[in-house]
Amino acid sequence: MNIQSIIGGTPLVELTTFDVPADVRLFAKVEFVNPGGSIKDRMVSYILADAERRGLLGPGGTIVENTSGNTGAAIAMMAATRGYRAILTMPDKVSKEKRDALRAMGAEVIVCPTSAAPGSAKHYVTCARRIHAENPGSFMLNQYDNPLNAEAHFRSTGPEIWEGMGESVTAFVASGSTGGTISGISRFLKLKNPAVTSVLLDPVGSIYHRYFHEGVVDPGEIAPYFVEGAGEDHLARCMDFSLVDDVMRFSDADAFATCQHLAKREGLICGGTSGANVWGAVQVARSLKGPATVVTVLPDSGNKYISKIYNPDWLRQNGFDAGETRELEQKL
Ligand SMILES: Cc1ncc(COP(=O)(O)O)c(C=O)c1O
Repeated sequence: MNIQSIIGGTPLVELTTFDVPADVRLFAKVEFVNPGGSIKDRMVSYILADAERRGLLGPGGTIVENTSGNTGAAIAMMAATRGYRAILTMPDKVSKEKRDALRAMGAEVIVCPTSAAPGSAKHYVTCARRIHAENPGSFMLNQYDNPLNAEAHFRSTGPEIWEGMGESVTAFVASGSTGGTISGISRFLKLKNPAVTSVLLDPVGSIYHRYFHEGVVDPGEIAPYFVEGAGEDHLARCMDFSLVDDVMRFSDADAFATCQHLAKREGLICGGTSGANVWGAVQVARSLKGPATVVTVLPDSGNKYISKIYNPDWLRQNGFDAGETRELEQKL
């Protein structure tokens, strides 16, 4: 058995401690049990297998990618097992745990300023493209614009949810960055039942919410936020809004309060986007008339953010008041 063979087939757990109507059930697919620790293992293994089949990546090859950490972890894991060199660029807001894990697996990590404007030389995406251009023969997954990203979820995560739920899903809810997760899963679920509703969660500070509702990409919307892995400062081609029925905004405070609830009440130590996803799933569940089922994903584990989301000093220093967090938790 190799490490790639244990990707996917993740458990779907029912969340039972949230205040939602009695006949609306909440389920979460626990993606952090994948060997690289996140949902990104699926699309990375899918894209690398395709690249190897097509001869774009071979023995001794180099992989270059921009990442908020999880794609990087999946690449570093697979590069380590296959003898590839991995060069990964990431914004400096990415947690130290994530950065250190990539280096531990032998990847070269280049940290870029989060504040760099999209398209500017120091932006982590531009930086990865430059390194790719400077290394002829290197392979870039191009996760934002590569249709195979969403296809990986269409072929694996979507069918697993549909079958795991006994072919009964009312709504699917998830945050998005590249859009691979929401687009691939929504496409599969809607193919099986066009009545399935798909809701994207977007952090305050990202462009997707306004783009969906008003058709405008407004650079004025771009603002810093702490949740890692959701939202964007540019439109990713993988994000297929024709498959999305609504886009809801969440705040860091909503996401982190839900993380505390998940840890204390459900025994699930989750990353920030999992908190956001479950917060959104709860809002959607409250808007439904039962019987209904709402499904979301837990993209990565809180173990990658112990120094942030689960560190009272970091939370206080960054403006997350413990009293307000408790109040938000009580509303869940
Ligand atoms: C922790 C986390 N959650 C959610 C996402 C969003 O997934 P997608 O890029 O498929 O939209 C990412 C992507 O980087 C992530 O790292």
